[in-house]
Amino acid sequence: MILRMLCFLTAAVNMGGNAVLGFAHEPIFAWLGVPPPGDPFLFSAVLGFSFAAGVLALVIALRPAEAAPLLVVGIVSKGLFAVLTLAAHVSHGVDWPWLVFAGWDAAFVGVFWLYLIHLQRPELLQLNSGVLVSGSARPRTRKALVLCYSLSGNVGRALGRVKAGLEHGGYECTMTSVVPVERELFRFPFRSVWAFFRIAGRAMFRRPAAIEPLDIPADHDYDLVVVAAQTWMVGIAAPVEALFTDERTRAIFADRDVAIVSLARGLWRRNQAMLASRVQAAGGRLVGAAAHSNPGREPARTLSLFIFLAMGKVGAPRWLGWFLTKQYLGDAALASLEEFGTRLALRPLPGQPAQVVAEAAVQDALDREVDAADGDADEDMVAVPPALTPRPQLAPIPVVSNSVHSSENTARRREEVRA
Ligand SMILES: Cc1cc2nc3c(=O)[nH]c(=O)nc-3n(C[C@H](O)[C@H](O)[C@H](O)COP(=O)(O)O)c2cc1C
Repeated sequence: MILRMLCFLTAAVNMGGNAVLGFAHEPIFAWLGVPPPGDPFLFSAVLGFSFAAGVLALVIALRPAEAAPLLVVGIVSKGLFAVLTLAAHVSHGVDWPWLVFAGWDAAFVGVFWLYLIHLQRPELLQLNSGVLVSGSARPRTRKALVLCYSLSGNVGRALGRVKAGLEHGGYECTMTSVVPVERELFRFPFRSVWAFFRIAGRAMFRRPAAIEPLDIPADHDYDLVVVAAQTWMVGIAAPVEALFTDERTRAIFADRDVAIVSLARGLWRRNQAMLASRVQAAGGRLVGAAAHSNPGREPARTLSLFIFLAMGKVGAPRWLGWFLTKQYLGDAALASLEEFGTRLALRPLPGQPAQVVAEAAVQDALDREVDAADGDADEDMVAVPPALTPRPQLAPIPVVSNSVHSSENTARRREEVRA
C-alpha cells in the first residue's frame, strides 16, 4: 500500500511539476534565483521525459497487477536521469533544482525496485495477510525446528515467541542456534566500529558467512521448520544466507513445511522475498510468513539503529534518550508473533485450501493448554483437526509495520496461559 501510494505521489509530482514548469518556468526560476535554461529544446525534452515518467508511475499505481515491465522501464529511466544529471553536474555544474530532481528520481529507483520485488511474489501478499498454506503431504509429527541467528537478540526474542505459540498449539519445538564460524567478527557488541563496516561491506556484496555444522540430518522428523532472517544491507543476514548455500543445512528444508519470519529496522520486503526464494530453491514448502519492523519513525529510527550498533547497548548515550527509538520489537509485535506460532501449529492439513486459521481455533488451542496445565489434558489434543475458517477469496492485505494479526481477546488469553 505504501509503495503504491508513493507511485501515486511521484505521478502527481512528475506530471504536475513538469506541467507547471512548462507553463511558468520563467517566474518560478526567477523566484528560485536560478538562471533560465540555456537550451530551450533540451529543457523541453527533459520536461517531456519527466512528465512521461509521471504518466508511467500513474499507470503503475492504477494497474499494479500488470506493472512489472513498466516498473523495469521506470527503474531504468529514473536511474538514467539521475546518473546523467549527476554526470552533468560533475562535468560542468548544474543548478541546484536539477540535483533535487535527480535525488528524487534516484530515491524512486529504490521505491520502484521494492515494488517490483513485492509484485513478483503475490503469494507473499497472501501469506502476509495471515493466510497459511498446507505444505508437504508428509505425515505431521507435530515437531518443529526453529532456526535462529540473532546478533543483538531481536530475532532471538521474536523466535522465542513463535516457539511459545507453536507449543500452545501442541507442537514440540527445538530451537537451534545458527553460529557463524567467525564468532569474533559476528558478535555484539562489536569489538570495534571496523567490525560493523566489515559485516556491512560483506553484506553489500552478499557474501555468506560460514556457519558451524548444525548436526541435523536430512531425514529429520520435524514436519515444520521456522527460519528467520534479519535485514542486513537490504538483504538477508549473511549467516542465514549460509543455511541455504551449505549443502548439509540446505537439505534440512527439502520437502518440509517452512515458515519464515523477517525482521528489520524497516526494510523487510526484500528480506522476505529473498528468504522465500531461498526456501523454495532448497525444496521447502512455504506455509506461512510474518514480517515486522522495529518501532519508531524515520529518520530517528535509522539514526537510532546506527547509534545502537556503535554504542552496543540500548538507550545510550543517555542524554540522547529522548530521541532514540527502540531497537527491539514491542509487545504488540511479539504477541502477534506468538499468535503466528499458534496459527502455524493449526495450519491447514495437506489437501486443504490455503486459509486463515480462525480466531476460535486459536482460542481453542489455548483453552486446551490451560486444561492440560490443570491436569485435565485431552488425550486427543494433537489428533483433533484444527477448526479452520475457509477464506473464500484470498484478497491481499498488506502487512503493516509492527502489525498485529491477533485480537485483544487472544492476547489476553495467551497472557493467562503464560501466567
Ligand atoms: C550490519 C547490519 C546491517 C543492517 N542493515 C539493515 C538494512 O539495510 N535495512 C534495515 O531495515 N535494517 C537493517 N539492519 C537492522 C537489523 O535488521 C535489525 O536491527 C534487526 O532487528 C537485527 O536483529 P538481530 O539483532 O536479532 O540480529 C541492519 C543491522 C546490521 C547489524
